[in-house]
Amino acid sequence: MDCSKIKVNMGSMKAVIYDKKTNPKLTLRDVEKPTPNDDQVLVKIHASSINALDYRSMKMGSIPKRKIFGGDISGVVEAVGRSISQFKIGDQIMGDLSDSGLGGFAEYVLVPENKLVLKPENVSFQTAAAFPVASTTALNALRNKGDIQKNQNVLIVGSAGGVGTFAVQLAKNFGAHITAVCSTENMEQSLKLGANKCIDYTKEDIFTTTERYDLILAVNGNYSLLSYKRILNKKGIYVMVGGSMKQILKSILFSRFLSIGAKKMRFLSMKANQEDLQFIRDFIAQDKIKATIEKEYPLCQVSEAMEHASKGHSKGKIVINVIE
Ligand SMILES: NC(=O)c1ccc[n+]([C@@H]2O[C@H](COP(=O)([O-])OP(=O)(O)OC[C@H]3O[C@@H](n4cnc5c(N)ncnc54)[C@H](OP(=O)(O)O)[C@@H]3O)[C@@H](O)[C@H]2O)c1
Repeated sequence: MDCSKIKVNMGSMKAVIYDKKTNPKLTLRDVEKPTPNDDQVLVKIHASSINALDYRSMKMGSIPKRKIFGGDISGVVEAVGRSISQFKIGDQIMGDLSDSGLGGFAEYVLVPENKLVLKPENVSFQTAAAFPVASTTALNALRNKGDIQKNQNVLIVGSAGGVGTFAVQLAKNFGAHITAVCSTENMEQSLKLGANKCIDYTKEDIFTTTERYDLILAVNGNYSLLSYKRILNKKGIYVMVGGSMKQILKSILFSRFLSIGAKKMRFLSMKANQEDLQFIRDFIAQDKIKATIEKEYPLCQVSEAMEHASKGHSKGKIVINVIE
């Protein structure tokens, strides 16, 4: 699409709207610019990024109310409602809209203040937008569900995508010994991010190992839950983050039953929260975690960017530049 062809009128904004009748289904349009109520912050978005939740929700027909996808944002506060106390006009922020209606693939969005934190000064808007959903998911899986401890033997299956690249770095920061699982071309990336060892799932069966793990993070792939359980240590924890729909359903249905005994099989159901985002923000500010960005697309090419991400082999994150 030629991005220069879209004109914006007064009181309106550019946004990528989902319409099942158009081809492609995601197109850049001129729509009404939102105004905040008392509890909302109006953010002028500089950048956004794509998550599996965007392309999976679209595929399953779960369309956001305003028909605008995009769970990650970075930008500048343009206006605040009367009850807003944490932010003021001009603040540079990053935010997680994954459970407040999405809306990141647009020039402006309304956000409850507890979904935002101040953007760290040491990163650009593009970099900041890569973090929120994927990094807090990795944090929740490792720390809250996985109870990760120093010197533990941790297996991260699906180390190369959005969640995986952050999981490897966070596990490293928590002092774990990490085995990462990805395809051949992503092995170097996982090792650089902090994995001690890498298994190429296209060449090696990860379950033939004699190694036993204290914590397994299943971020991607489709492997049997019983096989995972077998390679856990006596009191090991398995956390299912994602993978194929079949795998996710199996985890929801059987994880409680399979958790009888000392080994625990858990499923992560992520809820966006400011405390976790603040934790990530501090890690970014201290240079403890970096974003791996495979590619950046302009707002008018969200459809192409979603198509690329939905193939399921992104190397880290795909960023959308709302302001180029
Ligand atoms: N439970 C929750 O609350 C929650 C929250 C957020 C996300 N998720 C889920 O987490 C998963 C990952 O999300 P994401 O944003 O990180 O996705 P993503 O960036 O699209 O992940 C793509 C990565 O998956 C890897 N991969 C694909 N097939 C694999 C396989 N068979 N074995 C190992 N790795 C494989 C790819 O690496 P290679 O190219 O090397 O294969 C690629 O780098 C998704 O299923 C998502 O729905 C769950």
